[in-house]
Amino acid sequence: MYLKKLTLTNFKNYELNELEFSPKINCFVGNNGVGKTNILDAIHYLSLTKSFFNNIDSISIRHGEDYFIIQGTFVRDGEEDQIYCAFQKQKQKLLKRNGKEYQKLSDHVGRYPVVMISPADSALITEGSEDRRRFMNKIISQYSAEYLDSVLKYSKALQQRNKVLKDIKSSGQADSDILSIWDAQLVKYGCYVYDERDVLVNELIPVFQEYYSLISSGKESVSLKYRSHLSEGSFAEALQNSVIKDKYLEYTTVGIHKDDLLLEMDDFLVKSLGSQGQQKSYLVALKLAKFDFIKRKAGFSPILLLDDIFDKFDAERVEQIIRLVGNKRFGQIFITDTHQNRLQDILRSHNTDYKLFNITGSGIVELTQNGTPIQ
Ligand SMILES: Nc1ncnc2c1ncn2[C@@H]1O[C@H](COP(=O)(O)OP(=O)(O)O)[C@@H](O)[C@H]1O
Ligand SMILES: [Mg+2]
Repeated sequence: MYLKKLTLTNFKNYELNELEFSPKINCFVGNNGVGKTNILDAIHYLSLTKSFFNNIDSISIRHGEDYFIIQGTFVRDGEEDQIYCAFQKQKQKLLKRNGKEYQKLSDHVGRYPVVMISPADSALITEGSEDRRRFMNKIISQYSAEYLDSVLKYSKALQQRNKVLKDIKSSGQADSDILSIWDAQLVKYGCYVYDERDVLVNELIPVFQEYYSLISSGKESVSLKYRSHLSEGSFAEALQNSVIKDKYLEYTTVGIHKDDLLLEMDDFLVKSLGSQGQQKSYLVALKLAKFDFIKRKAGFSPILLLDDIFDKFDAERVEQIIRLVGNKRFGQIFITDTHQNRLQDILRSHNTDYKLFNITGSGIVELTQNGTPIQ
């Protein structure tokens, strides 16, 4: 599966741009702020129907306009699919595949999977547990529509249960029947989500450890642990046992909305122990493990988006990574970097098909392998 063509209209800093890609490696070079990451984000949109960076579509509309359109041609099993994603202010997002509108955006997710490795990943280590739950959600949703649906239904039930808890506190009247309706919903969807997350983490661990030792020269041992109230016993009982506390606090204190992933190095949280270099290697290994996992589930390689690749690695590592991702194990790759020459030197020395695009304030130009513009 690969993206053959991309057309952007009023997307972020692009008024109108049309690009044709290599099925293997595609590089965007240019100074800071010219719009390299924006291209990767447009590809992310086509795959997951939203930005990698935020959930507010209107931010992605070019300033001064009131809509954007992202169009892409994917090739899967030799067949071309046209994806059309449009958003207009105050309207619903519109997504079409081969001219036919999707009823639910979630039906599209997973068809053309992508994995982004970005400097923003450090939030996984530094931020709260919500980022790590989102990490798990995003992986599983890319192959299981039922999972995404369960997470949404769980969230709705949770909101309702919290509302009942608030009402009980303000009215002083306990309505255990209504509470038990929402408990049943939470148990139904929560247990499903828990099982899927548990399988995910157990499958990620060995691949992640292998990638970590491949890309780091460190001797430290790394691990990943899934922490959930649901692994401590019956979820239904836990809800029962916490009901007094929940009524007092006016929200639900147990459940998968409190899950976390413990990111560890030598039995300590990588956040507290790891050097910057170790943390970066940790994150890249985790993302590559995610790549392998989605690949196994989908039966083909996701598109790999490597944003600001030199932010994470020195030149030697980048070369090693390009050699790694240039082989058959990986599919199509998009890379951004601020320096044309250092990336081009590495690419030239490898026998891999690639395209290079130079982005400046005045537009995007494809370059030949010698670095001159293609007319
Ligand atoms: N909605 C928007 N309308 C116009 N320009 C935007 C919009 N969103 C972001 N930009 C511009 O995009 C640029 C950043 O693009 P980005 O892809 O992050 O750059 P980089 O090449 O450093 O990766 C900034 O100059 C910013 O002003
Ligand atoms: Mg960038």
